[in-house]
Amino acid sequence: MNKHVEFSEPHHPRPQWRSRMGFILAAMGSAVGLGNIWRFSYLCYKNGGGAFLIPYAIAMVVVGIPLMVLELGLGHKMRGSAPMSFAKVNRHWEWCGWWAVTCAMFGIMLYYSAVIAWCVNYVFFSINLSWGADTKAFFFQQFLQISDGPLQIGDIRAPILLSLMTVWGVCWMIVFFGVQKGLERANKIFMPLLFCLIAILVVWSLNLKGAMEGIRVYLSPDFSQLSRPQIWIDAFSQIFFSLSLAFGIMVTYASYLPRKADIVQDAVVISIGDCLFSVIAGFAVFGTLGYMAQALGKPVSEVVTQSIGLAFVTYPEAISNMPAFSKAFGVIFFSALVLAGLTSGISLVEAFSAAIIDKFHFSRKTVVSVVCLTGFLGSIIFTAKSGLFWVDILDHFITNYGLVIIGILECILVGWVLGARHLREHVNHAGGIVMTRFWDISVRVIAPAVLGILLFNSLHNEFRAPYEGYPWVSIILIGRDWVVGALIVALFMAMYPWKRALESEEGSGLHNKS
Ligand code: PHE
Repeated sequence: MNKHVEFSEPHHPRPQWRSRMGFILAAMGSAVGLGNIWRFSYLCYKNGGGAFLIPYAIAMVVVGIPLMVLELGLGHKMRGSAPMSFAKVNRHWEWCGWWAVTCAMFGIMLYYSAVIAWCVNYVFFSINLSWGADTKAFFFQQFLQISDGPLQIGDIRAPILLSLMTVWGVCWMIVFFGVQKGLERANKIFMPLLFCLIAILVVWSLNLKGAMEGIRVYLSPDFSQLSRPQIWIDAFSQIFFSLSLAFGIMVTYASYLPRKADIVQDAVVISIGDCLFSVIAGFAVFGTLGYMAQALGKPVSEVVTQSIGLAFVTYPEAISNMPAFSKAFGVIFFSALVLAGLTSGISLVEAFSAAIIDKFHFSRKTVVSVVCLTGFLGSIIFTAKSGLFWVDILDHFITNYGLVIIGILECILVGWVLGARHLREHVNHAGGIVMTRFWDISVRVIAPAVLGILLFNSLHNEFRAPYEGYPWVSIILIGRDWVVGALIVALFMAMYPWKRALESEEGSGLHNKS
């Protein structure tokens, strides 16, 4: 049934990671991002504290690790970015790979870079505690100068634009220098630095007065919550987003591995490392919240806010209230966010750039420069006064629809078109930890079913009321049409003929179906 395609090795040999550690750090760099620091802690708190860890761990074992193995295995076997790997399975599926990387680059990265830019600004604000006493008014009115709604776009905020340029400049420089000299080297510096910063924050916050009360709220389990469907929905969607799955990133990173690689073991290390990072960062977040609650004489529940509010409103307030070295604490916290964001950002840029390089064989330097410049120009809209609304709407659509639909397609492609057993045999080759037949079931049935439920749930909520009460027209234009626009771009890219014929790395292994 698979269309027979000839695949030929490009003239330039594929770049390769210098070391296994370099690869693991880069993949963890992609997975560990802004989401680990603020989204996870908030979800934990909202869903019955420590009880959330149960569905979270189940989600990791049942779909997180299996899909990580799928993406790494596919990239490793096919030695290509997402579109190339998908095309090597079946030429008719190439568009899906393009959809994944287009959503990554021109969906997530555009707004993600704007949020990293805010963090850069906040590193500098920390130096003088510029946010003053009313951190909420500072963030919304003074810093973002937020407009009345998503359609009142307003002027561009020059300070944000400036840091946005810096963020893109850094990403460009890293990806420009390629796999070893750029991505690997940057992650080898940034990731250990990030671990150190988080370790300092954890130890520091746990020693603050009232911290233990925060930790109690963070971890004390309320098992009655486990019967609510929402806790499961939150756990599963957090796993997909946190592990950077379904955007073709892990496929691309694994395509730079040497032939001999222990995919299963690496997938387990990366997934568990990412989750551990979230849980540990949660200690810093809740330790600080506990301290702040105590300082303000309020219960912890009243100082917890979600996502953006937590990082840019609550945390600055906590920092101002620190007994000593508050400015240093602020600089460390926001620098950690910048580092976490940057290592994810470069993976998003790489996933798209690698796809273009694979297909059109332009030089990396040209591709990365054009991609980053276009990305930068595209993300300027998020520095306008309506930026926060746009971030919110686009994030909602890309993660609830783009990620989920592409995830389902990916499972169908590998589980049914290529044959799960076929890829399982490939990843089990290294011999260390092996995937059992459960993996086939997860990829063919469980993961698509879970994603299907997430999709159904999102659609159900979507039609009930406009997301966050935004005007329908803005939801349609900024949300739905963005995802659909990426799909149209993807279809065009896939229609374009390959500059050089594709060839299977494994020669005959390509067309087997189990
Ligand atoms: N995993 C990143 C985080 O937790 C977000 C991300 C998603 C990055 C998808 C790249 C791709 O913040």
